[in-house]
Amino acid sequence: MHFTINGEVIEIEADIRTSLLDLMRNSLGLLGTKKGCDQGACGACTVLVDGERINSCLALAVQYQGRSITTVEGLATDGNLHPLQKAFIEHDGFQCGYCTPGQLCSAIGMASEIERNIPSAVTSDLSASATAIDDTEIRERMSGNLCRCGAYNGIVEAITETLAHQPVVATEKRARA
Ligand code: FES
Ligand code: FES
Repeated sequence: MHFTINGEVIEIEADIRTSLLDLMRNSLGLLGTKKGCDQGACGACTVLVDGERINSCLALAVQYQGRSITTVEGLATDGNLHPLQKAFIEHDGFQCGYCTPGQLCSAIGMASEIERNIPSAVTSDLSASATAIDDTEIRERMSGNLCRCGAYNGIVEAITETLAHQPVVATEKRARA
């Protein structure tokens, strides 16, 4: 199988039944992406595929050949943390950190969805040219990412600040270049 992960072209032999999560963790040593439930319920395994967030535990690796995959290891550039990573630190957006890689990738994917004006289940004005972002929108859009430590307030604060001040999506694209 062949992939581009965090900008690196990878050729690897693997069982055709291998999930993308298991391939990354067990075969490629990319341990940043976490396995929580292994059934699509917790979001710990979230990665970006061509900028879209997916649960890698539900994805067969073979289906993602030729795609550009970004994991938490690919978010920093030249030793500098992604602005969202810095914001998580500043706002205490984690405790044990187990959910954090998935939260970060999910939030970056979410920023792309907002940029494309994709509504959520709580978006009130579907005719607006831009989605109004508030706590309710962010909590709904991030509801697939559970945090057993309950760091939700810090996570929402970090995302809110980053969305307001940084080109979240553009930065992620640079990380994948
Ligand atoms: S490990 Fe994939 S959603 Fe929980
Ligand atoms: S920081 Fe521990 S699960 Fe989220």
